[in-house]
Amino acid sequence: MSADDKKKNACVLAMEYVKPDMKLGLGTGSTANIFIELVGEQVNQGLDVVCVPTSVASHDLAHSLGIALTTLEQCPQLDLTVDGADEFDDELILIKGGGGALLREKIVAKASHTMVVITDDSKHVDVLGKFPLPVEVIPFGEASTVIAIEQVAGQLGMKGRIELRKSDDGTPFITDSGNHIYDCHFEALKSPRQLAAALNAIPGVVEHGLFIDIASVVLIGNSDGAYKLQR
Ligand code: A5P
Repeated sequence: MSADDKKKNACVLAMEYVKPDMKLGLGTGSTANIFIELVGEQVNQGLDVVCVPTSVASHDLAHSLGIALTTLEQCPQLDLTVDGADEFDDELILIKGGGGALLREKIVAKASHTMVVITDDSKHVDVLGKFPLPVEVIPFGEASTVIAIEQVAGQLGMKGRIELRKSDDGTPFITDSGNHIYDCHFEALKSPRQLAAALNAIPGVVEHGLFIDIASVVLIGNSDGAYKLQR
């Protein structure tokens, strides 16, 4: 079974969490796209929900499917956000941001009563960090910010390449909020909670891809269907 079929299994299960009249956060990425398509199908059959997308890409997809959209300004508290992840562990700590939308994803997830994560079984890990941790930084002074990231990681026993993310044309990738992303190849995030706090304390860091105590449920698609891990 392909990874996309497994992702779809998780998305089908996620639809069980979607109820009429909900205010819904829509994630970003290939798994979230499948979920958005399913929401679009239900909306076309009469489901009444209003959604806040976590990226321009998800906005455009949802809009093209006829899904009613709003913003956190108009609707600051949401019932449910459904989004993908790049890695997750048994504590439901996630690494997100492979698609570059981590900042808006975290704002929308934190504004939601419940966050449901949709994944396939390849993303479940014992120790987070094989997937490079994305850190979104303000371009001003970013060389200094990168040194500060190296230092706090080193103090916590983590080191590795910290790489400016580039677009296909070789120029720096720019997030929807106009920032850069550095992918931190630390291989094993020994103390994710301490690392998250230390990164948040660096002035040039806007946000990082560690989602801690945010997800309530992870739905994991596999070749038999989907199962869930819950907090
Ligand atoms: C987007 O910035 C990410 O956080 C995605 O949610 C994450 O990368 C998962 O993407 P896929 O569903 O494409 O694997």
